[in-house]
Amino acid sequence: MTIQWFPGHMAKARRQVTEKLKLVDIIIELVDARIPISSRNPMIDEVVQQKPRLVLLNKADMADKALTDQWIDYFSKQGIRALAVNAQGGTGLGDIVRASKDILSEKFDRMRAKGMKPRAIRAMIVGIPNVGKSTLINRLAKKNIAKTGNTPGVTKAQQWIKVGKEMELLDTPGILWPKFEDEEVGYKLALTGAIKDTILNLQDIAVYGLRFLEKQYPKRLEERYGIVVFPEEIVEVFDKIGTQRGCLVSGGEVDYDKTSDLIVRDIRSDRLGKLTFDIPGEYMEEK
Ligand code: G4P
Repeated sequence: MTIQWFPGHMAKARRQVTEKLKLVDIIIELVDARIPISSRNPMIDEVVQQKPRLVLLNKADMADKALTDQWIDYFSKQGIRALAVNAQGGTGLGDIVRASKDILSEKFDRMRAKGMKPRAIRAMIVGIPNVGKSTLINRLAKKNIAKTGNTPGVTKAQQWIKVGKEMELLDTPGILWPKFEDEEVGYKLALTGAIKDTILNLQDIAVYGLRFLEKQYPKRLEERYGIVVFPEEIVEVFDKIGTQRGCLVSGGEVDYDKTSDLIVRDIRSDRLGKLTFDIPGEYMEEK
């Protein structure tokens, strides 16, 4: 899905999330485990205000496990509970209800103390496009989509999805915009496939990816492309990969667009192994 975000769309998206905030007890914020900060909405704290929150590092199957653990720690230090999940394969989803109950235990204890009848936790999923919101909802839904919202105070018919007995999920997620004014974030979104038709130049994206691999995962470059010593001139890397993989124009010269496309595809898939592009240490000073 490609969404062009304009100020009007952003305001509308924000309004839609804000309106639904009062219907739920907790926000489930989905981010991409490979880019837990770059795949966040820049205004997320303002948008969800004081609402309790659970962060899910989705697509953990494609991320560097050691760094995912560091990211969970990072969020925990900010008082935010985070879990690594794979919405596609189903891994980690069982913990969502448990963690939500934990986060909300005081609120529900207070409700019980006042004599209120126990009820299911109400939750809403939010996140930027392509982070896996629909996949997660479908996974959790199985066939438990409730027909209408008979929740007191809900005027418009709101569809709720039952997740076991203890949680109800709004069937439509809140779609938020990424932080695309930052060029580096743009490259990372492109490399993880969050943005496919990007205004960024394909060769620039490939260069960014190669430089990143050179710095963080040099062994992977060796294993996949036989690059042991990273050449001074980046064009030599393209020449080597392009020649090796047959990305050539008719005269036998390297086709740089084709080579860039191949590199970007390799990075997006698991052909270069599990990669995490947001490095926790680089964000520790922030906040
Ligand atoms: P959205 O609603 O937030 O926009 O995202 P959506 O669920 O449509 O998911 C976007 C893509 O990410 C889908 O791939 C989906 O299968 C994939 N995906 C979601 N969760 C996971 C996960 O935990 N692990 C992995 N590996 N992939 C996940 P798609 O429909 O095939 O699109 P694409 O591959 O063409 O991007």
